[in-house]
Amino acid sequence: PAPPFLYGPDRRNSRGLDLTIRSNLDRLAEEQKTFDAKAAYAAGPIVNGKTSKGEETDTFSPADLDFKVARLSQASEADIETAFSTAHAYFDEWDHAGGAARASILRKMGDLLEDEMERLIALMTRETGKSLEDGVAEVREAVDFLRYYASQAEEKFASPVRLPGPAGETNHIELKGRGIFVCISPWNFPLAIFTGQLAAALAAGNTVLAKPAEQSPLIAYEAVKLFQKAGLPTEALHLLPGDGKVGAALVKDKRVRGVAFTGSTEVARIINRTLAEKDGPITPLIAETGGLNGMFVDTSALREQVVDDAILSAFGSAGQRCSALRAIFLPEDTADIVIEALKGAMDTLALGDPADPSKDIGPVIDADAKKTLEEHIERMGKEAKIVHQTPLSRELKDKGYYLPPTLVELPSLDLLPEEKFGPILHVVRYKRSDLVGQAKALADKGYGLTLGVHSRLQRFFDVIRETVPAGNVYVNRNMTGAVVGVQPFGGEGLSGTGPKAGGPNYLPRFASERVVTINI
Ligand code: SER
Repeated sequence: PAPPFLYGPDRRNSRGLDLTIRSNLDRLAEEQKTFDAKAAYAAGPIVNGKTSKGEETDTFSPADLDFKVARLSQASEADIETAFSTAHAYFDEWDHAGGAARASILRKMGDLLEDEMERLIALMTRETGKSLEDGVAEVREAVDFLRYYASQAEEKFASPVRLPGPAGETNHIELKGRGIFVCISPWNFPLAIFTGQLAAALAAGNTVLAKPAEQSPLIAYEAVKLFQKAGLPTEALHLLPGDGKVGAALVKDKRVRGVAFTGSTEVARIINRTLAEKDGPITPLIAETGGLNGMFVDTSALREQVVDDAILSAFGSAGQRCSALRAIFLPEDTADIVIEALKGAMDTLALGDPADPSKDIGPVIDADAKKTLEEHIERMGKEAKIVHQTPLSRELKDKGYYLPPTLVELPSLDLLPEEKFGPILHVVRYKRSDLVGQAKALADKGYGLTLGVHSRLQRFFDVIRETVPAGNVYVNRNMTGAVVGVQPFGGEGLSGTGPKAGGPNYLPRFASERVVTINI
């Protein structure tokens, strides 16, 4: 049959999987059964194409604490040394291969991920508690990163660009790889960000040592195997899973020429300090960290739309996106009506097994995350006001790290000094005369990732945009789910060093520039 027009030749992003079609859901259920029948899987280091065994730990599903997902081998010191020496020796060859050759491998990897979409989703629902819908978005984003950076490699890394100059002289500028890049990725986008960092670093001609989050080693392991199947030379990419000790050992090595990190602001600081203090070349850090993201609403906003967008932005993915909405600012005139509507919408959210397509929200990632969030809710109960919580059954509470979506009203933004990474939405009422004061209070927290505005008034939008720093501003829509090439994503201040993943200026941040002048 002819493909629907949405999948036509003009469409650049990955095709994904339509979850309203029964046969797609059946295929997902089938893959889930196959995956579940085989657990636990082995995951561990892959160095120069070889898997190795080290100190082992078991990982369990956050959605079902009895479900063993993987037996993880940590990378050993020997693995790390072999990875460094191999990646170092291979760098020149990979860099000289050129943007076009590297792009064709990345495109092949994109095709393989699309072919294996159902299997990868089944894996992620178990390993990280991702809902089916988020699983589809995750694979799409990974594929999009691969194809986008492939195009960028062809455009920017294939041949030098001629510059103007005086008669008798030619000048060219060229981009080339820096050397070994260390990529440290998070569990909340265990395939998309993992693949995105690798694709960018590799496309730019670097060799890569990858350290995935300790909560999501299996999807990283499967992705690296697929990179090899796509034809990536084994010397170019090495997987070194483990806890923070592995990350620390990688970052401090003198052979590192760049680090890409997505995770907490606190860890980004530690990495930055390590890079600054070690001997050897000055090493750049590309960091994408957290956000204390606000949405400002005025009385001209469409209330139903505000509620839909706030619910999705705050509670989608159990609030475990750095882009997620943390504080909604409502005008006091209409705040009560919006809060009532938010409460009603929260009651319609279905919590439960992420592999079940009828569920909206899965668990948070682990016991530590749950404890931190519960402590915050408890504190908010004393110092602020818990306005509402989505009902959560006893059975679910015992089964996994489920946490009810929670609405908190804050008397003051002072009670929210930092990001809380989970399904908690804070409401702040503002008086019209204090709009700028509230916007400044949010700006003073120092983050700058996403910002939402719901208003039909240009002036309102201008005031907020001028006052609150943000890398990605969303007007009259939800604030999550940036699309590669469409909404390049990344923040400033406490939210990161600025480069926009999935944007036209990202790859050069992984590269060195060289200018060649020839006197003819
Ligand atoms: N890029 C993701 C989003 O936009 C967050 O990391 O939701």
